[in-house]
Amino acid sequence: MGNKETKRFNVAVLGAAGGIGQPLSLLLATSPYVQRLHVYDVVPVVNGVGVDLSHINTPVQCKGFAGDLKDAEASAKTLREALAGSDVVVIPAGVPRKPGMTRADLFNVNAGIVAGLVEGIADACPKAMVCIISNPVNATVPIAAEVLKKKGCYDPKRLFGVSTLDVVRARKFIAEKAQIDPEDLDITVIGGHSGVTILPLLSQTSPKVELSDEEIEALTSRIQNAGTEVVEAKAGGGSATLSMAYAGYRFATSVMAALSGKSGIVECAYVPSDLTDLSFFASKVELGPEGAKSIVPFKDLSKFETEKLENEVKVELAKNIKQGVEFVANL
Ligand code: NAD
Ligand code: LMR
Repeated sequence: MGNKETKRFNVAVLGAAGGIGQPLSLLLATSPYVQRLHVYDVVPVVNGVGVDLSHINTPVQCKGFAGDLKDAEASAKTLREALAGSDVVVIPAGVPRKPGMTRADLFNVNAGIVAGLVEGIADACPKAMVCIISNPVNATVPIAAEVLKKKGCYDPKRLFGVSTLDVVRARKFIAEKAQIDPEDLDITVIGGHSGVTILPLLSQTSPKVELSDEEIEALTSRIQNAGTEVVEAKAGGGSATLSMAYAGYRFATSVMAALSGKSGIVECAYVPSDLTDLSFFASKVELGPEGAKSIVPFKDLSKFETEKLENEVKVELAKNIKQGVEFVANL
């Protein structure tokens, strides 16, 4: 399974005992790009998750680290131990949605969780690539940026909101329609990662897929609401975990491939950006050894996409970013 020639990296998963964390860690434990996998959570079972993973016959060295919510100081120390020496940190820690909730409803709990974990990153591995899965991504990424700024180690090239699942879904749904292999389809998804802020550019897929206006409207809406489709189907049992683990693994693999010196690695991600007047925006990003090498501009939007971008994406995203920034200012 492993490629002995591939450069390997130290990875930490925070929230590793959860619905996303476990399958994501499983995939990372089989990765030819991973040398050492530290799995951290605030529930004791994560120690067992680490032991379980450590029996897989790959060269990856896996270890569990359990924080303790009743002892903040001990938890912070364990977190720093888990993070020390990490090149890449992936964060799926936090509560998921239940039916009837929006991602914004998770803010009150997850904002503090992400802020605390990112403080740990600033202390223990300030040069790591930080990949945030915890929702609401539109606000947790600005929170991470503000915490890193306060700690004096903010590098906008090393901070990513993982919006890969939107691309994974867009590829799947459009490929089904076009009856082609999803892997052969390239789709850009811009904006953010929630509801109307998710804007798949269906006018510019490669290869070009001919869709009627009605089909574009219906597919755009399905991609925007795919997370809710899973939340409702799980009926109170959480949100997407397996498809997210796949998407998170895919994104982390691209980050590590670029770190190892491979060129031409491009993924959509929600990043600090100057493509629009918003400070964070999801678009294609070219990855390199230092993180985000360049933000790929989008072009030639259709009338439908332009209207969505101006009237829906930007309006909602501006509010989400402001909420994240203000949260850290008031800490
Ligand atoms: P889950 O409840 O199954 O797992 C979350 C884990 O985080 C739990 O094991 C919990 O103990 C842990 N945790 C809580 N506080 C922590 C802390 N301070 N430090 C470390 N770990 C902590 O939830 P899940 O289904 O894995 O979802 C996790 C998050 O990912 C949610 O916020 C969800 O909305 C989000 N999500 C994002 C995407 C995306 O596309 N970006 C997709 C799916 C889910
Ligand atoms: C998703 O897109 O599946 C995640 O953001 C989880 C959710 O709450 O929908």
